[in-house]
Amino acid sequence: MGLQHVSRELKAAAAAVMRRADELGAISDEAGRLTRTFHSPAMQRANALVGEWMRAAGLEVREDAAFNLIGRWPSPRRGAKTLLVGSHLDTVRDAGKYDGPLGVLVALAAVEELRATGVTLPFHIEVIGFSDEEGVRYQTTYLGSRALAGTLTKRDLAAIEERGIERAKRKRGEFFAYAEVHIEQGPVLEKEGLALGVVSGIAGQTRARVEIIGMAGHAGTTPMAMRRDALCAAAEFILAVERCGVTATVGQIEAQPGASNVIPGKVVLSVDVRHLEILKRVAAERALRKDLAAIAKRRGVTAKWLPVQSTPSVRCDAEAVKIWSAVVDSVQGRAVTLPSGAGHDAAALSVVCPVSMLFVRCKGGISHHPAESVKAADVAAAIAALQQFVLALAVIPPPRSSAPLRLNEADLNAEAQRNAKQRNSSSP
Ligand code: GLV
Ligand code: MN
Ligand code: MN
Repeated sequence: MGLQHVSRELKAAAAAVMRRADELGAISDEAGRLTRTFHSPAMQRANALVGEWMRAAGLEVREDAAFNLIGRWPSPRRGAKTLLVGSHLDTVRDAGKYDGPLGVLVALAAVEELRATGVTLPFHIEVIGFSDEEGVRYQTTYLGSRALAGTLTKRDLAAIEERGIERAKRKRGEFFAYAEVHIEQGPVLEKEGLALGVVSGIAGQTRARVEIIGMAGHAGTTPMAMRRDALCAAAEFILAVERCGVTATVGQIEAQPGASNVIPGKVVLSVDVRHLEILKRVAAERALRKDLAAIAKRRGVTAKWLPVQSTPSVRCDAEAVKIWSAVVDSVQGRAVTLPSGAGHDAAALSVVCPVSMLFVRCKGGISHHPAESVKAADVAAAIAALQQFVLALAVIPPPRSSAPLRLNEADLNAEAQRNAKQRNSSSP
């Protein structure tokens, strides 16, 4: 069942990640709930704070032209390539604290611990906090990671206020791998009783905006049979989305003119369609477009399907999956692989270098919700696994103390209290 030995440092590192996630969770663009969107004031504050933590860990810190935060640990090896590790610091609206930030904080903790061992790596490491995985501000995802990968289109650039983010593009061949730790955002690991899981691939996504134009009119005088109600047409379409046979969602809807005594004349809604197999996703999209046209015809409204973004599904690198599986097996005694239905920056980076991901169990599989929750013990397991992954890439055997099995909350809380006491007594 793996090793039982847990180092003091690892417990403290996990407690620090939990504390930092709380601190970041309080940095928001909206009072009373957590929302941080691309290049917003809260994102700038979050980058400044994480930048301080990176600097304190001895990393060379900068923000690139796409507002990605980067902390670099250079290798002395001449001509070394770079291993990129991290996740995103932006959030959805009314978010939880861990989707994104956990991966950045775990990466920082792992690098901090590795640096403290005095190890020299044959590659540079960059810890990265991407600026836009969720796509909330402009409804297009991965602005930061696509800028770095050099895959932003003219249309993407024209759709945003910020100028010059394409200058964040990095040289081809500079990175030899990207690794991302992320909460699972689903219930599989919890059901399996496992802290960690290895990701096999990331589902592709189609995002579209649908506009339905009917005829606004008086809600009291227009006979029911003579209406061209855009919202009723939208309602039928939403149910078609629910029944389309793949994972699909209408998450945003706006009816105009938006008054209780006016028949809705125009509706704009979002559609999000996902599948690991591109053919299934494309077939579902085609079927939905047909449904939309049929509903519009029957109801005497017009409807447009406006593509917003299409991201292909991505397989995680087979070699990296093997290494992660060996590492996870040594940390928790068993390794499972699972696909990701959620999108991740790793998908955007897959055109630049091999990508891989490690999932961390989250309570009830809940995500994109303030109730997101992870255990400090699982975070410790993730830090240890990422350290071992990095050492395995460098072909360096892991230190004995890096396996974290059977941490419990009581241990971690006691450790956190001891650290806090020490900090207080040593402060002037
Ligand atoms: C990102 O969280 C997404 O999959 O929408
Ligand atoms: Mn995420
Ligand atoms: Mn998310």
